[in-house]
Amino acid sequence: MSNVKQLFYGTIIHSLSLDKLHIIKNGLLSVDGDGKIVSLQENVEAEELDSILEGLAEDSKLIRLSEWQFIMPGFIDTHTHAPQYANAGTGMDLPLLEWLEKYTFPLEHSFSSTEFAAKIYPRFVSHLLRNGTTTAVYYATIHLESSKYLAETVKGSGQRGFIGKVNMDRNSPEYYVENSNDSVLHTEEFVKYVLDLDAGENLVQPIVTPRFAITCTEKLMTALADIAAKYDVPIQSHLSENTAEIAFVSELFPDIKDYTSVYDHHKLLNHKTIMAHGVHLTDDERDLLKQRNVGISHCPNSNLALRSGVCKVRQLLQDGIKVGLGTDISGGGSKSILDAMRRASATSRVVAMTDGNGEHLKLSELVFLATMGGAELVNLQDTVGNFKVGKDFDALLIDPCAEGSPIDVFDMDDTERVFEKFIFLGDDRNIIDVFVKGRRVSGGGISGLSTAWY
Ligand code: GUN
Ligand code: FE
Repeated sequence: MSNVKQLFYGTIIHSLSLDKLHIIKNGLLSVDGDGKIVSLQENVEAEELDSILEGLAEDSKLIRLSEWQFIMPGFIDTHTHAPQYANAGTGMDLPLLEWLEKYTFPLEHSFSSTEFAAKIYPRFVSHLLRNGTTTAVYYATIHLESSKYLAETVKGSGQRGFIGKVNMDRNSPEYYVENSNDSVLHTEEFVKYVLDLDAGENLVQPIVTPRFAITCTEKLMTALADIAAKYDVPIQSHLSENTAEIAFVSELFPDIKDYTSVYDHHKLLNHKTIMAHGVHLTDDERDLLKQRNVGISHCPNSNLALRSGVCKVRQLLQDGIKVGLGTDISGGGSKSILDAMRRASATSRVVAMTDGNGEHLKLSELVFLATMGGAELVNLQDTVGNFKVGKDFDALLIDPCAEGSPIDVFDMDDTERVFEKFIFLGDDRNIIDVFVKGRRVSGGGISGLSTAWY
C-alpha cells in the first residue's frame, strides 16, 4: 500500500453486470499515484482506519464521505456533437434530414473559424465534466484546424475523450462539403496529430468519423476504413436513425441489401465501431452487428426530439449487441447522461407497453449502460466503467444533500433508495467532485463541509 495517494471511505456504488448493482457500505477504496485503483474493501469499521492509515505515506489523504454521500464511476457519453452545443435546446420542430439542413449544417460551417470554435468547445467540455461525463466520444466538424483545437481542449481539461474530424463529400450544402481527396488527407493528418498529442497518456484518442452513408461517397468510406485499419483507431457513424434517411440510403446503394450492410461493404464495421441510434434495424442487420461486434450508442433524447423512433434496447441486449448511452447534442438537448438514463428508461417503458417486448430497463441496467456499457463501446472495459482493482479511478463524488439539491432525503430512506433518487432526480448540483485517472478534473473539492481531509 506504499504508493497509495488517496483513500475514499464510505458508500461505494458500481455496476458489475447488467443485473448486478454492487452497493458497498463502509467501503475503502485506495488509489495510487498513477490514478489506478489499488484495493477495494467492504465493511471496514471506522476503528480500523487508524491502523490502515499508519502504514501509508505522509502525503496520502483519506476522504471520509458523510452519511448519504457516495462515489460511483464516471459517466460515458458515447455519442455527442461538440459544435452543436450552441444549438442545444433549440430547433426541435423538424425531422432529421430537414433539421440538418436548416439548423445543424449552418452552425457547423461556422467552425471553419477556430476563434468561433473557441467560444463553444471549452464551455462544452467543462460542462460535460461538471455533469459527470468522464469519457466522451465527440464529433467535431469537417474542419481540420478546429477539430485539432477540440482535441487540445479535451486534452487540456483532463477528460478522457475520442475526437472525430467529420467527413462529408456529397449530399451536403455547397458551403459545407469537402473534396474527397482533402477529406482523406485531412483525416490522416488529424489522426496522426491526436495520436501524437497524447502519446504518453492515451486519454485522448482519434476516432474516424464518416458522418453517415448519405454524405460519404464509396471512395471516401473505403479510404476512411483503410486509415482506421492502418492506425488501429475506432470508427463512428450514424445508422438507421430515421425512416427517410433509410430510404435515401437504399436509393444511393440499390445493390446493397440494407443500411448496415452498406457500412459492412465498406469495411467500416468491427469491434471498435460505434454506431449511433439503430432505431429501425431489421433482424438481419442486428445479426450482422452482433457478428462484427459493433456497439450501438442509444440516444433517447434525440430520438424523441427529432421524432426518429423508439429504439428497442432490450432486443439489442437480448441479441448480445453492446449498448451504451449518448446525449447526441443537439439532436438531444441535454448534455447530461443522467438525462439519457431517464429517457432510456421512459423509452423502454413505451416499448414494453406497445410492443409487448419484455420488461422496461431496470435501475441496474441503466447504470450499466451509462458506465460499463459505454466502456465496452470504446473498448476500455478493462480500464474504466467500474471500480475493479487495477482499473483507473474515473469517478464521481455524489452528495444527495448538497446545497440546492433537487433530491429530498428522509429518515426512512436507505442507501439504495437515495441512489435511485439521484439517478432519477439528481443533477450537477449533486456532483461535487469528478475524477479522471485519479485526478480531480471538476468540482469544488471535497474540502467542503461534510468531509474531512487527513
Ligand atoms: N445523422 C447525420 N448527422 C447527424 C447529426 O448531426 N445528428 C444526428 N442526430 N443524426 C445525424
Ligand atoms: Fe448524432
